[in-house]
Amino acid sequence: MTGKRAHIVVVGNEKGGTGKSTVSMHLIISLLEQGLSVGSIDIDARQATLTRYIRNREARKDRDALGLTLPEHVAVPPTADRAADEARLQEVFTHMAARHDAVVIDTPGSDHYLSRLGHSYADTLVTPLNDSLVDLDVLGLVEPGSMKILRPSHYAEMVWDTKKARAMRGEKAVVDWIVLRNRLSNLDARNKRDMEKLLADLSKRVGFRVIPGLGERVIYRSMFLEGLTLLDLRQKIMGFEFSMSHVTARQELRTLVDSIGLTKLER
Ligand SMILES: Nc1ncnc2c1ncn2[C@@H]1O[C@H](COP(=O)(O)OP(=O)(O)OP(=O)(O)O)[C@@H](O)[C@H]1O
Ligand SMILES: [Mg+2]
Repeated sequence: MTGKRAHIVVVGNEKGGTGKSTVSMHLIISLLEQGLSVGSIDIDARQATLTRYIRNREARKDRDALGLTLPEHVAVPPTADRAADEARLQEVFTHMAARHDAVVIDTPGSDHYLSRLGHSYADTLVTPLNDSLVDLDVLGLVEPGSMKILRPSHYAEMVWDTKKARAMRGEKAVVDWIVLRNRLSNLDARNKRDMEKLLADLSKRVGFRVIPGLGERVIYRSMFLEGLTLLDLRQKIMGFEFSMSHVTARQELRTLVDSIGLTKLER
């Protein structure tokens, strides 16, 4: 891939509703705030959550006054023509990768050829996971009696396949895979312990690292329509009360961005 200079972050999980689009948007704005130039691609363009999130931000009347940053964003909706879709994604990707320091790709919560192709571009794969055994099931099959991991399951296999696709294109097959525990709460300590143990087992077998993710906070839901992220709430914005919980949330986000390690990249 000539001219590629961007670091590619794919946000993916075959399970719906785990926080992929929310994490994508927060990553994009965090990287922009660090002064990186960022391209973003929405492969889940039928649902288009990330696209609408960004458009909501773009449409704010106070956008300039608040100094809200925006990525160069492209949605790649699937049509009935697989070959044409893949060619289009490849074209968009090549354009973005040549122009930006980082490219963030949001993917659908289901297995789809465009999602597979998108995954194959990842230097870093971020998989948000709700803290529940139901969500764990797409990564590894758990034996109910012993609470042991029997084997990796379909999403882990898909990630493996996409590494093979990279190798076949002559690229480095190494992907830094990060599983991010999203919507953490202290409500169920037993479940939390089980998840920790199972994820630790699975991470060794499948090859990912686990990072503490974002806590459960209602504010994530209200920010979508406003086109805002936690990072924007430093300033006084109508309708959003400043609270200590936002400070904690921003810290969680910083930890996430730091663990991807993009700031340390040479530009
Ligand atoms: N840490 C969190 N605390 C509270 N709510 C959250 C958190 N993360 C995400 N949500 C909410 O959960 C819902 C699903 O999030 P999001 O759309 O980001 O998930 P997704 O994985 O992209 O879903 P899909 O698979 O449908 O694309 C949204 O309403 C979002 O606001
Ligand atoms: Mg989504």
